[in-house]
Order: sequence, then structure tokens, then C-alpha cells
Amino acid sequence: MPKTIINPTQCFNTILSDLIEYPKNGILSKVILKDNNAQNTLFCLAAGTEIEEHTSTRNATITVIEGKGNLILAGNNIILTPGVFVFMPANAPHGLQAEDKLAFILTLSEHHQPKAKVNQKTIEIVKSTAPILKQHGQEITSRMYEIMFEKYPEVKAQFSMSDQANGSQHSRLATAVYNYASHIDDLESLKAMVNKIAHRHVQNHVLPEQYPIVGECLLLAIKDVLKEAATEEIITAWGEAYQLLAEIFINREQEIYNS
Ligand code: HEM
Repeated sequence: MPKTIINPTQCFNTILSDLIEYPKNGILSKVILKDNNAQNTLFCLAAGTEIEEHTSTRNATITVIEGKGNLILAGNNIILTPGVFVFMPANAPHGLQAEDKLAFILTLSEHHQPKAKVNQKTIEIVKSTAPILKQHGQEITSRMYEIMFEKYPEVKAQFSMSDQANGSQHSRLATAVYNYASHIDDLESLKAMVNKIAHRHVQNHVLPEQYPIVGECLLLAIKDVLKEAATEEIITAWGEAYQLLAEIFINREQEIYNS
């Protein structure tokens, strides 16, 4: 773990060339400043060092201080010489090679925040449905898979049919939906659950474009099971809340696919 040089609550200035230290081989990195918005790291690469092509889920910039290198960014070749500044949008593939010794500052911006927003009223409605979901969870999720496999049979191949037959996947989904409903005002506490499910999704090749399918079938199942108790207000609130949850999963899964 590189050491952080600056305490972000204090003013600081330095001569960057004083911080440069080249290793015999490979890379030496020093985090100069890290706060909630960005991380600025000084990279010093020995001549000939190569960083293989990869992607990052965060926007990034490179500011070259000294030396010479070659950056391949989204298929374009960029010569890195002192004073060159490069912006690399999130998810753009990039890799580089230090032709000579090379020192640059890499700035990584904050993680992408979910765009979907739920208002206080939606939060209250969704939370108020948590006890109903606990009571009818298994029934709702069984119905949801029934609807989904009938309307979208192509997704069937991704699921274990024995877990469908014994109901274990229905109860895992019901638990997740219930946990979400009861913690929608404290998403941080759902991180471990999201992480576990996201890894499972990646193993099963779940893709972002499949989320609307599950959303549609889940809402239809809620309506089918709760009947008139599923008021328009409840369905609208769940529609919005689902979008937020889907975005949280999609972002986490994107990170795992890219890692
Ligand atoms: C916000 C929506 C979703 C929630 C809350 C959710 C929840 C879950 C949960 C709790 C599990 C079990 C994880 C474990 O093994 O512990 C799971 C597995 C899985 N999910 Fe999702 N999921 C969602 C969206 C989707 C989507 C869009 C798809 C794509 C069709 C999908 C496909 C799968 C598959 C294939 C598995 C593995 C199940 C098996 O092996 O049978 N999920 N999901």
C-alpha cells in the first residue's frame, strides 16, 4: 500500500521533482493526496516498465512530469513527454510503456454515484411494505420467476433449475428484496449483501440490459400476489426503488467484470 504524503485538512505545497524516486525495476508509487473526491498518485516507472491494458471505473487524468513513455488509450497512441496532460474517461481501455524513466501524476476521480434517486415519500412507502414482503416474499418471488421464464425464456439457461425446483433461489431473492425494503434509507448497510449477490451475478453472466426484465416481472408478481393491496402508489414507489437497486448492482458488477 503506498504511503499518503498529505493530510487533506492541511495546506501543502511541494516540488514534485523532490518526490521522484525511481525503482531499479517496475513502479514506485506515492499517494500525494487522497480525499473523498479524488486520489492523486505520483508514479515513477523504471525504463522499460510496461503496464498492461486495463480499464478503471473512475475518470482519470495523467500529468507527465519527466521522462518518456507511450500510452495506448482506447486504441490511440499518445506520446508521454514532460507537460503532457491526458484525460481518460471511466472504462476506457489503456496501457502504457515507459521508454525511458517516466514520472507522472495520476488523478483518479470519485467513484460513480448512482443517478437514480428516490425521494423521501418513496422511501417511506417502500419501508412500509417491508412487513408485507416478509409475509408474502416467497410467494411473490415464485410468481416472479414463473412470469419471467414464461415471458423471457432465454434467461432460463442462466439459472439453476434445481434451486428453482426446491425454492431456494426464491427465498434468497425474497430475503434480498425484504432487506432492501427495510434498509432503503441506509444503503451503506447493504454493501455486503450487494457485493455477494453481484459476484454471483457476474459468475452467471448477468448483464445490465437484463435488469428491466427482472424489474418488470417483479412488479407484475407484486400486483398478482398482493392484488388490491398493491395500490398504484406502492407500485410506483417500488418501480423507482427497483431502478436504484438495479443501478447499484450494475455499477458493482461493472467493477467486478473490469477487475
Ligand atoms: C435488483 C435485482 C436483483 C436482485 C435483488 C437479485 C437477487 C439475487 C440473489 C439474492 C441471488 C442469490 C445470490 C446467492 O447465491 O446468495 C441472485 C442470484 C442470481 N441472479 Fe439475481 N437479482 C437481481 C437481478 C437479476 C437479474 C437482472 C438477473 C438476470 C437475469 C439475475 C440473475 C441471477 C442469477 C442467474 C442468479 C444465480 C441463481 C442460480 O444459480 O440459480 N438477477 N440474485
